[in-house]
Amino acid sequence: MGPDHRRVVLVTGANAGLGFELSLALARAGAHVVMACRSPTRAEDACARLLRRVPHARLSTLPLDLSEPDSIAQLPHLLEQQVGQLDVLIHNAGVFGLPLSRNSAGQEMHFATNYLGPFALTGMLLSLVHDAPGARVVCVGSLAHRLGKLRIEDPYAREGDYRPLAAYGRSKVALLSYTLELERRLRAHSSHIIAVGAHPGMAPTDIARGHAVANPRSGLGKWLNRRMESLIPSVTEAAQPILHAACAPTVQGGEYYGPGGLLEIAGAPARARVHRQALDPSLATQLWSASEHITGVRYLSR
Ligand SMILES: NC(=O)c1ccc[n+]([C@@H]2O[C@H](COP(=O)([O-])OP(=O)(O)OC[C@H]3O[C@@H](n4cnc5c(N)ncnc54)[C@H](OP(=O)(O)O)[C@@H]3O)[C@@H](O)[C@H]2O)c1
Repeated sequence: MGPDHRRVVLVTGANAGLGFELSLALARAGAHVVMACRSPTRAEDACARLLRRVPHARLSTLPLDLSEPDSIAQLPHLLEQQVGQLDVLIHNAGVFGLPLSRNSAGQEMHFATNYLGPFALTGMLLSLVHDAPGARVVCVGSLAHRLGKLRIEDPYAREGDYRPLAAYGRSKVALLSYTLELERRLRAHSSHIIAVGAHPGMAPTDIARGHAVANPRSGLGKWLNRRMESLIPSVTEAAQPILHAACAPTVQGGEYYGPGGLLEIAGAPARARVHRQALDPSLATQLWSASEHITGVRYLSR
């Protein structure tokens, strides 16, 4: 498995966790990796760390804050100027378990970063994705999408009705519903680009640092966490389903991959289970229209 050496792959949130691991593996395989990160300092630091491990790596860094519409709007121009066309776009960046917070447009932060940002970014970059076999948009989902509930009429959290895990789950079920709708629309427009989803199972990154799930107070919680830690794979292993979705020639549009082992927590890449809400095409159409309305980004119209 591995991209051919001419591929240009953009990874969002490439400076840490799974995004760094994906960038490392892709650079080793010979791809030109575009590391899109919200902090220029962390991006440069990640670039330097990666170059120490893969001295021949072809890397570019671009600024991108996925929670901020203005930052997303600047990326296509910068990409076109500094890189040109893309072959693969990996929507990896994500936030988890935040207390209620909103971006400058008043959008709840999980929904803005994990879903609306990728929706708008794909629309703005699509004309820069080389429309040829092998081209892909890969969305990184989560087991927690099965806990999410889409509320098209009210996608944001209301004060007093906010639970961080529910907000995260909602953003991820929206992302998966969108991935499948993106695939249907790409087919309807006779594009060669495919849309694919993948989740890592569980990975020991910093995403849950500070959240109660990572720091339980009760004795039982601590015991359960220790048991879970022994089941959780390394970040390198957890990145494999995403790399498979991004690179394997056998992958078809609309597929969703995750670890193939017990409860999809760890194991070699295999087809993963999708929550029925994400499989509902009429809900996906409504979500797409609502997202166009919210973001002002319209593409692949029906
Ligand atoms: N780790 C797991 O167990 C797990 C399980 C299921 C799914 N996932 C998914 O895997 C993906 C990667 O997560 P991870 O575990 O690698 O987390 P991580 O170590 O916390 O890394 C997240 C990355 O996303 C970036 N990011 C966050 N908000 C951003 C924004 N507004 N704009 C641009 N970049 C932003 C972070 O940048 P900063 O460094 O600047 O914060 C960081 O580079 C996420 O989509 C997550 O939902 C992870």
